[in-house]
Amino acid sequence: MSRNYTVAIVGATGAVGVEMIKVLERRNFPVAKLKLLASARSVGKTLTFKGETVTVEELREDSFAGVDIALFSAGASISRKYAPIAVQAGAVVVDNSSAFRMDENVPLVVPEINGDDVKLHKGIIANPNCTTAITLMALYPLHRAFGVKRVIASSYQAVSGTGAQAIEELRTQVEAIAAGQPVEKKVYPHQIAFNVLPHVDSFLETGYTKEEMKMQNEARRIMHLPEFKASVTCVRVPVYRAHSVSVNAEFDRPVTVEEARDVLAKAHGLQLVDDPQNNAYPLPLYVAEQDDCQVGRIRIDCALDNGLAFWVAGDQLLKGAALNAVQIAELI
Ligand SMILES: NC(=O)c1ccc[n+]([C@@H]2O[C@H](COP(=O)([O-])OP(=O)(O)OC[C@H]3O[C@@H](n4cnc5c(N)ncnc54)[C@H](OP(=O)(O)O)[C@@H]3O)[C@@H](O)[C@H]2O)c1
Repeated sequence: MSRNYTVAIVGATGAVGVEMIKVLERRNFPVAKLKLLASARSVGKTLTFKGETVTVEELREDSFAGVDIALFSAGASISRKYAPIAVQAGAVVVDNSSAFRMDENVPLVVPEINGDDVKLHKGIIANPNCTTAITLMALYPLHRAFGVKRVIASSYQAVSGTGAQAIEELRTQVEAIAAGQPVEKKVYPHQIAFNVLPHVDSFLETGYTKEEMKMQNEARRIMHLPEFKASVTCVRVPVYRAHSVSVNAEFDRPVTVEEARDVLAKAHGLQLVDDPQNNAYPLPLYVAEQDDCQVGRIRIDCALDNGLAFWVAGDQLLKGAALNAVQIAELI
């Protein structure tokens, strides 16, 4: 029997939150009532869902009465405090933050890869890091066919991955530079317009950043592959939307370009865009606002054994966040 659900979005006014509203609408998720929650700063703001105006409310401990599904996207500290409160009130939580991703009691899910893990939830399901989710959309089908051992990867991450204020920072810096005005920095430690920053998230003692280690740590859980290794350099680039990742992967078994293309062409949620002679390869500009990720530049890696090099791009606000979260809610 089908029914309609009361859905809450925590962080509804943010870069991911507004995409969640659009994805729920576009996929015709059975919503009986939508609650939009954000900070006190946003109280009274309105957003539109299916032609109806919905007023944003302040997130409070009593916000979850009657809520069936709560999609959290307001940062890890908010999730740590309020997700257990939402579960206590009877909601199932899909959390976009890093708060519970490494918690053994919380499934970490990409529906195309380990959708069955949703069944193991005890109230909270975690949505993976955006760069990891996009990379795995191409890496996992290859792993199924050839057995992945390790990857070396570099990401090219859009500013919207940092949130709404970072989108504004890139826009105002570009305008200031075009007008010959001095540049203001608030979100990033350096100018992001016309620059690239080899710095995403905070640095660890090892010299890697937290973001860089998510690929190894989260991919192990999602692929059920505890020995998987990933050495990653995450780079912020002056792109508004969609992350790209250059991946060099080593497999257990020999792999050819034709076999890899065949596997990737059949993968769900992924498009093969690989005709470099005609300048066809995945580009963040064209994958933005698309549900599917794209993979291309597939070639035999000349420095690894059984190695493949490829380039994968995807809209991190969608597959890396809002779309993946709503897909998980659909599985629930
Ligand atoms: N951006 C991405 O591509 C992406 C991808 C995957 C995961 N995520 C994760 O998703 C989360 C949100 O990211 P975002 O990019 O959407 O950030 P954002 O644009 O900065 O939005 C943050 C949201 O959280 C709300 N918020 C902040 N403090 C709050 C408080 N004290 N109480 C209630 N609500 C509060 C904000 O409300 P106000 O508008 O009222 O301040 C806003 O709605 C983060 O955990 C991030 O790591 C982001």
